[in-house]
Amino acid sequence: MNPEEARERIALLIKEINYHNRLYYVEAAPEIPDTAFDALLKELEKLEEQFPDFASDNSPTKRVGGDITKKFETVAHEYPMLSLANTYSEEEIQEWVQRITKAGLENLTFVCELKYDGVAIGLRYENGELVRAVTRGDGEKGEDITMNVRTIRTVPLTLTGDFPIKFEIRGEVFMPIEAFNKLNEEREMAGEDRFANPRNTAAGTLKLQDSSMVANRGLDTYLYGVNGQDLPFLSHFEAVKSASTWGFKTPPENQGYISCCDSIEGVMDFIHYWDEQRNFLPFEIDGIVIKVNSYEHQRKLGFTAKSPRWATAFKFKAKQVVTQLLSVDFQVGRTGAVTPVANLAPIQLGGTTVKRASLHNADQIEKLDLHLGDFVFVEKGGEIIPKIVGLDVSKRPIDAQKIQFLENCPECNSALVRKEGEAQHFCPNELQCAPQVVGKIQHFVSRKAMNIDGLGEETVVQLFEAGLIQNVADLYSLSHETLLKLDRMAEKSVENLLNGVQQSKSIPFERVLFALGIRYVGETVAKRLAQAFQTMDALMNASFDELLEVNEIGERIAQSVLEFFNQADNRNTVEVLRNHGLLFEMERKALHSNVLQGKSIVVSGVFEKVSREELKELIELNGGKNISSVSSKTDYLVAGEGMGPSKLKKATDLGVRLINENEFLTLIGYGK
Ligand code: IVH
Repeated sequence: MNPEEARERIALLIKEINYHNRLYYVEAAPEIPDTAFDALLKELEKLEEQFPDFASDNSPTKRVGGDITKKFETVAHEYPMLSLANTYSEEEIQEWVQRITKAGLENLTFVCELKYDGVAIGLRYENGELVRAVTRGDGEKGEDITMNVRTIRTVPLTLTGDFPIKFEIRGEVFMPIEAFNKLNEEREMAGEDRFANPRNTAAGTLKLQDSSMVANRGLDTYLYGVNGQDLPFLSHFEAVKSASTWGFKTPPENQGYISCCDSIEGVMDFIHYWDEQRNFLPFEIDGIVIKVNSYEHQRKLGFTAKSPRWATAFKFKAKQVVTQLLSVDFQVGRTGAVTPVANLAPIQLGGTTVKRASLHNADQIEKLDLHLGDFVFVEKGGEIIPKIVGLDVSKRPIDAQKIQFLENCPECNSALVRKEGEAQHFCPNELQCAPQVVGKIQHFVSRKAMNIDGLGEETVVQLFEAGLIQNVADLYSLSHETLLKLDRMAEKSVENLLNGVQQSKSIPFERVLFALGIRYVGETVAKRLAQAFQTMDALMNASFDELLEVNEIGERIAQSVLEFFNQADNRNTVEVLRNHGLLFEMERKALHSNVLQGKSIVVSGVFEKVSREELKELIELNGGKNISSVSSKTDYLVAGEGMGPSKLKKATDLGVRLINENEFLTLIGYGK
């Protein structure tokens, strides 16, 4: 293909992909199967690689994200990002509507919208291209998080239709409840703490330094306002409708997310409807926003110092009910963490019957001073399980017993332990305690780990209860005959299961490492460790300090890895897995050269020609070793812009050779 043909094909592919992306993510009505979509994306990726001059920042291939080497820049808002006056009182909303109604504005209408509980964002478009995405910040200045926002599928990178040449559109980035729960499940699997709520998680996600992680977290948007000069509309409602035709995800009128009305009754109906229905929304809202529709009316009403007079917000009170605590169960998870769960007298809350509530840990029980039979206040947030937020001491039954945390594991009776500084109690009997053993095997076979087809969570329980598997290594000795004897195991299922086990032997090392279920070693950490040590043996023999040298591996993880491999049973399991032929080393990439053989290199700061990750890859491809902190054994410190002064001092004190990006590239023969 010649360059001219490539340019045309790239432009066409981008148009096609953006079109299907919008159908899939914004309208939830795809026209082509995922495989066809992936094929288009692959073709584009390949062409952009061949013809890098035609690869733009707003190409849909950039949605997958990557390493962000620079700090987020602070930028001034062209239009200040104001906040809204708000109230919990319906009377105050009525007074506000009445005040505006009496202001003598002709043909007054209001627009009612949901108040999305996320993070405000301002998106600038020029000539139909996304040029910048900025957080609210202090309202005057915000942070440029364009790289991260590009990965959000419902944010169009290039616009369609009749859009203004320059404008800013504002809206809310939020994490849908399903995405939030999925993320928390994954974190729990990796032994990491759960995130508290979707709002904070969305805010934290937008500030991640690795936009490929942002891309995987399922953030979403709704847009609620257009700013610009000489915009071709007279009202807010019109603007929102038009924005939808340019490719933005705007609130659908047919689902009642946005509504125009001209009376106080209309406004109150909207509030009452959503106060009831909000629990069925796939995302969290914390209220309703009411805006005066006409731009001319908005201009006449103007602003106070902090907020517009033409808009206000009604905030919902968190839904609370009172019910009685019947008993407390203690559940043991895969990691051995023991979680108390309250059993409650069943009660209706936000459209569902609540029977159980999470109590998190011993501190929580202590803080509430919880007694059996207490009348407790229960609230529902983004979590699947509602939480107990307080109790009514005056209603406590006489002689009520204080809830005591267990001293022994409810499953295996081992004495529970609680490490200093940790809130959770743990059952230390990792190798025999049933829920821990089963949980570990379930994690091992799960999709992101060994992905063993034909072996679901329930089958794992069945095999464990039948005494066929005690640990993950036993999966590889399962035989056709024994499996056939089990209930619900027909010839076909047995074949599937055994095939799945067989195929898992070609799963890459980094996933095998993740599958082992070492505490705090989630997907990303497993990848980092696998890359740094290359083989299971090197990792098993690594010292605490060597582990700490790996980028982003802290003491908690290093300690956990050491503890895991220190246990004879774990080492045994690993050896059996090795004998069954699982992959215990990284696939070797063909080296470009050996010029850095035996050299330990630290990379620090931001670079111009290559990203930090690329630089590290180049070190490895040329035989060198990446190290995260400077020591006397370091051969080179590749110094970029904004390198920490303490690193620089340490390197100078130890006489480590400092080289810049160009010198490094010359060293490996890529220079100039
Ligand atoms: S309009 C000048 N509309 O609420 C008015 N804001 O308390 C600008 N929010 O920072 C805001 N949903 O993050 C508007 N439909 C909606 C909204 C909304 C959520 C958030 C937004 C803003 C905050 C103001």
